[in-house]
Amino acid sequence: MTMAKLRWGMIGGGEGSQIGPAHRLGAQADGLFEFAAGALDHRPEAGREYAQRLGVAADRAYGNWQEMLASEKDRDDRIDLVTIATPNSTHFEIAKAYLEAGFNVLCEKPMTMTVEEGEEIVRVAEASGKICAVNYCYSAYPMVRQARAMVRAGDIGKVRLVVTNFSHGHHGDATDADNPRVRWRYDPAMAGVSGQFADCGIHALHMASFICDDEVKTLSADLASTIASRELEDDAMINFRMEGGTVGRLWTSSVAIGRQHGFDIQVFGETGGLRWASEQPNQLIYTPVGGRTQIIEKGEGGLHDEVQRLSRVAIAHPEGFPLAVANIYCDLADAIRGESRDGLPGAADGVRSIAAVHAAVASGKADGAWQDARPPMFR
Ligand SMILES: NC(=O)c1ccc[n+]([C@@H]2O[C@H](COP(=O)([O-])OP(=O)(O)OC[C@H]3O[C@@H](n4cnc5c(N)ncnc54)[C@H](O)[C@@H]3O)[C@@H](O)[C@H]2O)c1
Repeated sequence: MTMAKLRWGMIGGGEGSQIGPAHRLGAQADGLFEFAAGALDHRPEAGREYAQRLGVAADRAYGNWQEMLASEKDRDDRIDLVTIATPNSTHFEIAKAYLEAGFNVLCEKPMTMTVEEGEEIVRVAEASGKICAVNYCYSAYPMVRQARAMVRAGDIGKVRLVVTNFSHGHHGDATDADNPRVRWRYDPAMAGVSGQFADCGIHALHMASFICDDEVKTLSADLASTIASRELEDDAMINFRMEGGTVGRLWTSSVAIGRQHGFDIQVFGETGGLRWASEQPNQLIYTPVGGRTQIIEKGEGGLHDEVQRLSRVAIAHPEGFPLAVANIYCDLADAIRGESRDGLPGAADGVRSIAAVHAAVASGKADGAWQDARPPMFR
């Protein structure tokens, strides 16, 4: 049976943007979506022109998201999914408007700026019956799914401790701190209450929850601006506890010169340990207690079904970031067609992250006092 492609639209992700190409490659990698509509740039003409160069029909290459919404909602061939890949402060307004108009949404992280907005998105998505996914794309790497499946299968026993880092050095040059592309991230007027933790740390926190199959309950934070001109933190150390009692440690930094992507995680259980790093995404390191350390490779036999489903090329062939994003789109295509997908990060994950960000800021201001990290709706 041939299945018609789903129709996909994107807002933001214009020419030269950081995340736009990963969405375009990801959405189209498996022939599941066709790129049908877009409002790709904050400059209307540039957005229209670029969308057409990418193959979008002229009447669906829009100047802004409002125009796209007004036109798409009345079309018989309206888009099945819209991706929101604009700067953070615009996510809430756009996601809410599209969900209310009955569109499925994939929103970039952080989903919203405040916990209240995040809770509203959860409610609006529920009321609409539409999907609101959030692009915690690292959780869609096959070997991260393998780690979660192994934890669920009891391969490392009850998880005692999870340690994760998302620390890079790309904003570590003080002489570049005034570069407008860097500066806004540490300016509360543009970035909100948090810099590095809201930008990168929440990926690591989500990953900890995802692999441990548990939620963050409380946290204590030390936030630092190691470059003095920065108002928001460029480095943070977060201690946390999960609902099931697991102890968590998270370090996130943008001044860790020499660390490139710098995202890794280790999970320590009563009978074994697991380690995964985004710079070697095809390998999961597993050590059973008292046993030998093993390298589990994407593509080898005996992996969990979920991992086989999301692997495309043969063992030891690199499969990287855009295909992790493509895995989010595979899960979304299934979900849109009515088959629920357990690993797909949703609006609840989105609001949990925002609540953790605000809790970390409160803790940082209170000398590390422990805070409830959960949004009120999940307490
Ligand atoms: N999931 C991930 O791993 C990941 C990685 C990078 C960025 N992101 C997120 O993606 C989002 C975009 O980040 P980026 O680094 O690509 O930013 P960017 O500044 O590189 O690109 C932003 C794009 O959005 C366009 N834009 C801005 N306002 C718009 C509007 N109102 N309507 C339509 N288009 C608009 C800009 O013209 C530009 O093309 C952010 O929320 C960021 O946190 C996520």
